Amino acid sequence: MESPKTDKKKIAFSGIQATGSVHIGNYLGAIKNWVDMQEAHRCIYSIVDMHAITVRQDPKALRENTLRAYALGIACGIDPEKSIFFIQSHVHTHAELTWVLNCFTPYGELGRMTQFKDKSQTNADNINAGLFDYPVLMASDILLYQAALVPVGADQKQHIELTRNTAIRFNSVYGNVFEIPEPLIPETGARVMSLQDPTKKMSKSDDNPKSCVALLDSRDAIIKKFRSAVTDSEAEVVMREGKDGINNLITIYGLMTGRSVAETEAEFGGRGYGDFKTAVGEAVADKLRPIQEKFDDLMKDKGYVESCYRKNADRALQFSGRTLEKVYKKVGFLAR
Ligand code: TYM
Repeated sequence: MESPKTDKKKIAFSGIQATGSVHIGNYLGAIKNWVDMQEAHRCIYSIVDMHAITVRQDPKALRENTLRAYALGIACGIDPEKSIFFIQSHVHTHAELTWVLNCFTPYGELGRMTQFKDKSQTNADNINAGLFDYPVLMASDILLYQAALVPVGADQKQHIELTRNTAIRFNSVYGNVFEIPEPLIPETGARVMSLQDPTKKMSKSDDNPKSCVALLDSRDAIIKKFRSAVTDSEAEVVMREGKDGINNLITIYGLMTGRSVAETEAEFGGRGYGDFKTAVGEAVADKLRPIQEKFDDLMKDKGYVESCYRKNADRALQFSGRTLEKVYKKVGFLAR
């Protein structure tokens, strides 16, 4: 029977929203590390469609994007047998724990979340309670599975801090119910920047499609986007403060090819930016090709993909149900 703390491996939990298309920032900041962690950790990953509806979604597009994000996760290397890989809305414990944790999370703390403040600006006509409560749903995702580690990009750090605070607050009243999780933020790739404005992070909601490279972009589109990446007026491929565009490209190239910064600088020394940008585009396209091929195969076999998410929803429910049961007992809900 699957349950929290069944073996000695540390539990890792992480999620990705099912909106728009998954991009190389998501891949380098999160998914690539999720895949690498599967051997040494007990991994649980989710496509978080409930988080996605905090911003208005077209229902048909959300369904399609959820399925595609799930298949893409498998194509990237998430093993749905080894890891628990599920769709958030399939597992009702997440909404249920969120209600309880809402009662342990101060309004003021939620109001300080920078993502809430940013999204309130970009969605000024729909600042709903879900958007405000978003981090509590995220805390529930993590705490239900007693996760010790949360592999994420740098932008999620504040939400994990809130998760820790909520868990510590709950534990201080009821004893050791929740494991206190740590964020696991990669040294490089934690903040992949926009190709058009390298002072901003790459984001799927960016209005300029050239700023963001999706995992499913064609080879041509990928190379074009890198060729038009904004850099600086120098011509030296070196990692240096103030060279945001070039620093970003060196980082991406390094993570996609396994080259160190020094190796990249040596390879492109004296060759100018044009050659370098094309090489980064080609390296990204080469790395993504097998992922895209696997994705295409999976989308031709939707029955298999469905069987994976169904089975994994059962596994996630069984696992998380234990924690929820304990929480319900602790807060004083009468057993049915
Ligand atoms: P989301 O869907 O915005 O992003 C998924 C993951 O990708 C990382 N990421 C980036 N990393 C590097 N550079 C970038 N430009 C970049 N953009 C995004 C994010 O840090 C994230 O790790 N709230 C979360 C999803 C979530 C979650 C959770 C995560 C829901 N529940 C529980 C961890 C644990 C989100 O919207 O991620």
